[in-house]
Amino acid sequence: MADIFERLVKHYGPIGEHRERSHGYYTFPKLEGEIGNRMNFRGKEVIVWSLNNYLGLANHPAIRKADTDATAAYGLAYPMGARMMSGNSKYHEQLEKELAEFENKEDVILLNYGYQGIMSAIDAICGRHDVVVYDAESHACIIDGLRLHPGHRYVFHHNDIEDCEKQLQRATALIEKQKRGGILVISEGVFGMAGDQGKLKEIVALKDSYEFRLLVDDAHGFGTLGKTGAGAGEEQGCQDGIDLYFSTFAKSMASIGGFMAGPRTIIDYIRYNIRSQIFAKSLPMPFVIGNLKRLEMLRAMPELKEKLWQNALKLQNGLKEKGFDIGKTNSVVTPVYMKGGVPEATAMVMDLRENYGIFCSIVVYPVIPKGDIIYRLIPTATHTDADIEATLNAFSETKRKLDAGEYKVAEIVQMAEAD
Ligand SMILES: Cc1ncc(COP(=O)(O)O)c(C=O)c1O
Repeated sequence: MADIFERLVKHYGPIGEHRERSHGYYTFPKLEGEIGNRMNFRGKEVIVWSLNNYLGLANHPAIRKADTDATAAYGLAYPMGARMMSGNSKYHEQLEKELAEFENKEDVILLNYGYQGIMSAIDAICGRHDVVVYDAESHACIIDGLRLHPGHRYVFHHNDIEDCEKQLQRATALIEKQKRGGILVISEGVFGMAGDQGKLKEIVALKDSYEFRLLVDDAHGFGTLGKTGAGAGEEQGCQDGIDLYFSTFAKSMASIGGFMAGPRTIIDYIRYNIRSQIFAKSLPMPFVIGNLKRLEMLRAMPELKEKLWQNALKLQNGLKEKGFDIGKTNSVVTPVYMKGGVPEATAMVMDLRENYGIFCSIVVYPVIPKGDIIYRLIPTATHTDADIEATLNAFSETKRKLDAGEYKVAEIVQMAEAD
């Protein structure tokens, strides 16, 4: 018999296998200092482009005060237990009510974490005769939710509405044959790697020809898209066609937790059947009160979203003018596509961090095909023109070096922290 542990340490996985060279630098880096556009990395100031602090709320003085006051008043313990048993409070219910109003839905259920919340919601909603039709580039939390689904699922090519319709036809045929079950379509408001919005309006239009319900994960759209910041549904004018709207608090709200909004009857069904919330402790009070404050500011200060977009467009237009490929983004998420191997990509990142003071994330094989590199920049309302200018210049210079083969190295540059 094999020892499970022996197998694990033979191969640490596609990213883990590089850990001896990367830990503490490319992976698990420690950004220190106040959260913002400039932070410290290994003792040096860097311009940070990898925090989903879209509106700059993480460190806003009013937010810090609300978080601190709530912690002083309640600590981390209150309320104790799962919501259903003993862990409910008027503040949890108030946050749900305010989010429902904001999203123009009848009701909301709070979720402790976005990831396990949406996974578990998919599990609660879908029975074994139901069929799920979903976008191929769905976030890992959706894929894991589908792993819990005992019924059929059909995937459509990313944002390909023709293929989505084809999969809807297959799903409809299966359900007619089974004489049981329904269809749930799942997409995202903004796909977080490439920054392209899900084609929600087109998916909603398919409701004229097919019977299904639509669930949208709008983690990156909430607070950044739409006139009021209500997200991709508002932006595309199809919020009513989204049956279940999900977002995390981990991006625009710069906090912890998430929520699902929808019809009162269905949210109530989820409330009484979602295992990850029924069998887990509820969100502690500082998060609930802190999230109430964030929502209040998000609604009352549209200038934060305006500044975010000004920065995003300056960055995106600047990159395009310099000849960079930023793909199909129509959100603030800014990918920069380049060609090269994993070692080259790490040499370039090291140069950007060490010599230009630019901190951004890289995405390489196996997350994307071999030979492709994506540098992912996340603008926020806190970035300045000087940050953008310095970043554009650094990208121009490092791209020239990449094209000239100056980053060609045989192995990932060893930058791991010494023990
Ligand atoms: C699209 C998407 N859905 C869900 C999540 C998970 O949310 P959380 O961090 O609250 O678990 C993330 C990442 O935060 C995400 O990008």
